[in-house]
Amino acid sequence: MNQTDYKLLDSQLQVLLENESDALAATSNFVGLLYNAIDNINWLGIYVLRGDELVLGPFQGKPACVHIALDEGVCGAAASTLQTQRVADVHAFPGHITCDPDSRSELVVPLTVNGDLVGVLDIDSPEPGRFSETDQAGVEKLCRSFCALQEKRGSFI
Ligand code: SME
Repeated sequence: MNQTDYKLLDSQLQVLLENESDALAATSNFVGLLYNAIDNINWLGIYVLRGDELVLGPFQGKPACVHIALDEGVCGAAASTLQTQRVADVHAFPGHITCDPDSRSELVVPLTVNGDLVGVLDIDSPEPGRFSETDQAGVEKLCRSFCALQEKRGSFI
């Protein structure tokens, strides 16, 4: 059963990150916290906007592709539309980029700081249709909390 307590996770995130002045350390712990709290996933990480492409940042899981153009893959779609992409079957998504062949479904949430896109959070699962609307809403809330802490700190990786 995939049931994540997103409210608890949000309060843990605040405690873990609110006094951290180093953006890289905070982002790495954000990824570590979520990866270990969300059941049945095989990859979770951040792609950072660098110029006109996404570049691999802190993650948990197998080594992944490093550069993603904004018109490529699920991550590029989330970044270029600023809309969360919840993909039940990655094989049915045109242009999906396979990093780990075990991945069957995916959730990608754009990250914005002070209104500007700074990257995306990407979560992969080996289970088709793993992510529900509740997961999407929960992860989007965690991303808003994370981004608000970045704004307070005044820096992002
Ligand atoms: N599947 C993603 C690429 C990143 S990996 O899943 C870690 C995509 O299509 O953008």
